[in-house]
Amino acid sequence: MNICVIGTGYVGLVGSAVFAGWGNQVVGVDVDQAKLDMIQAGVMPIYEPGLPELVAQGIRRGNLRFTNSTAEGIKDAEVIFICVGTPQGAAGNADLSSVLQVARQIGQSLDHYAVVVTKSTVPVGTNQRVKEILQETTQQGVLFDVASCPEFLAQGTSVYDMDHPSRTVIGSDSPEAIELVAEVFKHLPAAIIRCGFAEAELIKYASNALLATKITFADSMASLCDLVGADVVLVMDAVGKDPRIGAMFLRAGLGWGGSCFPKDVEALAYLASQLSLPLPQLDGTRNTNRRVHKRFVHKISLYFDGKLDGKTFAVLGLAFKAGTDDTRESPAKKVIMRLRGAGARVRAYDPKATEKAILDLGTTSLEYCDNPYETMAGADALVILTDWPEFKGLDLSRVNSLLKNPVIFDGRNMLDPETVEREGFIYFAMGRPTNGQRIINGKDTTYVAKLTNGAGLNK
Ligand code: UDX
Repeated sequence: MNICVIGTGYVGLVGSAVFAGWGNQVVGVDVDQAKLDMIQAGVMPIYEPGLPELVAQGIRRGNLRFTNSTAEGIKDAEVIFICVGTPQGAAGNADLSSVLQVARQIGQSLDHYAVVVTKSTVPVGTNQRVKEILQETTQQGVLFDVASCPEFLAQGTSVYDMDHPSRTVIGSDSPEAIELVAEVFKHLPAAIIRCGFAEAELIKYASNALLATKITFADSMASLCDLVGADVVLVMDAVGKDPRIGAMFLRAGLGWGGSCFPKDVEALAYLASQLSLPLPQLDGTRNTNRRVHKRFVHKISLYFDGKLDGKTFAVLGLAFKAGTDDTRESPAKKVIMRLRGAGARVRAYDPKATEKAILDLGTTSLEYCDNPYETMAGADALVILTDWPEFKGLDLSRVNSLLKNPVIFDGRNMLDPETVEREGFIYFAMGRPTNGQRIINGKDTTYVAKLTNGAGLNK
């Protein structure tokens, strides 16, 4: 099929490359010519496993090319995917200006029938607006349809996710358009869910909000485990064995971040508020998530008796999760900003995200290192903020010899408490009964006072 993909961000670039890999003729469009030059030269603007190889293959085989002209990109396209950003607007709403502008540009250039498909995450009503814009801007006699086909890609595995979707959702008011878009995905074993615009738009938001809620629930249980001396990893593993609940997205940590969950949860809450519909459960998820990283820094502060001024922390991880160089809404950044705000210095290492973190965080009281151990010499504690698998394999005796104090704050439950404590560390995790947790439970009288029975504390 002839496919045009507008936008070469995470979704669009991966989409273009994978569609080409499936044998389609694909043109990727982006206004940023410098970015297109980079992509064509084999330099990817994002870190995504498998992407450089797939782009190179498409360019070599001649079925993947890029242009900065929408008119040229859509010239022969049967299906046009809109994959531009929908960042969070000032009121929590999704900012649709790029999507609507692209719709206008498509309308102005379209001279043949095509299905215009919104892949960007957009709130209910957007596809209807896209349709109206196309009606206003296309020349008389040019026919088109609109469909919604939300993406469910997770960063770091998005090439794999495109090939192995759990479902493909296609929403439209035109059954013919749905079938044409379904052609693109029909070789995949995943079910195709055919529905209207509103269902497709809502499926995406509901999925992300429920996943975020699962994580927040695990984070809340971790807070409780810290107080009662239980192990959240054990608790949530057992909870997740119930097939009605499912094992995934129950890892307690520093709360959810990234480019999708925060903005999508806000946009869903905004939509409900516009309709005067209270969603207190969703508000609870949002508010709790805002507190997770603060609670973690509070833990660090409690251990150091509130004196973080002048301390140096060795930080591992800047990306919002493992497998990506993305630092948008990264809990790691929030923790670092709080530590710096309290007068501490930070030396940080991330395998992929340093460049992006420098742009966001700058270099004041923050030094970037080339390997994990470089962060540690003379530091007051080690702080793990991103779940990169390589942090599980740290040489603990080397860590111990480098740090000023043998103290580890593990915000992602990456290390095995028994091993770390046996190596002589004071260890803090999220919702795990560690030697460090017992120390601060003893110090924090507000927590202790709240429990009528101190069971589990200081044992
Ligand atoms: C997410 C959705 O998974 C994807 O379907 C959607 O299209 C875009 O948003 P992504 O943002 O790449 O993908 O990251 P994801 O792997 O879902 O993680 C989101 C956040 O939750 C990260 O900060 C991660 O560290 C955190 N997380 C995830 C947890 O804290 N615990 C978990 O158990 C899982």
